[in-house]
Amino acid sequence: MVGGAVGVPAVLSALSPSLKRREDENWQAVGPVEDFPLGEMKKAVVSVPRDDWARSLREKGVFVLRKGAEEVIVFSRNCTDLSCPITWDPGSEWFFCPCHGGIFSKDGEPQAGPPKIPLYRYANRIREGFLEIDLNSLPPMI
Ligand code: FES
Repeated sequence: MVGGAVGVPAVLSALSPSLKRREDENWQAVGPVEDFPLGEMKKAVVSVPRDDWARSLREKGVFVLRKGAEEVIVFSRNCTDLSCPITWDPGSEWFFCPCHGGIFSKDGEPQAGPPKIPLYRYANRIREGFLEIDLNSLPPMI
């Protein structure tokens, strides 16, 4: 009985790679979660360490939508057509892409133009009151 119970996590892990903890997670703080008002889209900038000799930083823009006390969506700033940086229009509550006229809804779903897939979302978590994102949770080249 004990042997069967010990083997269950290994079997689940083998059957579903998504249950496995990834080795390459790269969590970075976005900011205090209280800085993101409920229901409001807010742009944020994350400082990302470069992998160079100077250990310099570059900045990555994201859009944060806090849907509940612990429920947050963090969108990539890049269009899913050809990766142009999108903008958020609070009046219409749409994302716009300036390159080929792509439009996305507040939930990141494509509405018009060439994009056929939703905006990419970062894995996120709240730790000690800070929103963090896993920079490696998007597909490569985003
Ligand atoms: S890159 Fe955004 S619509 Fe083409």
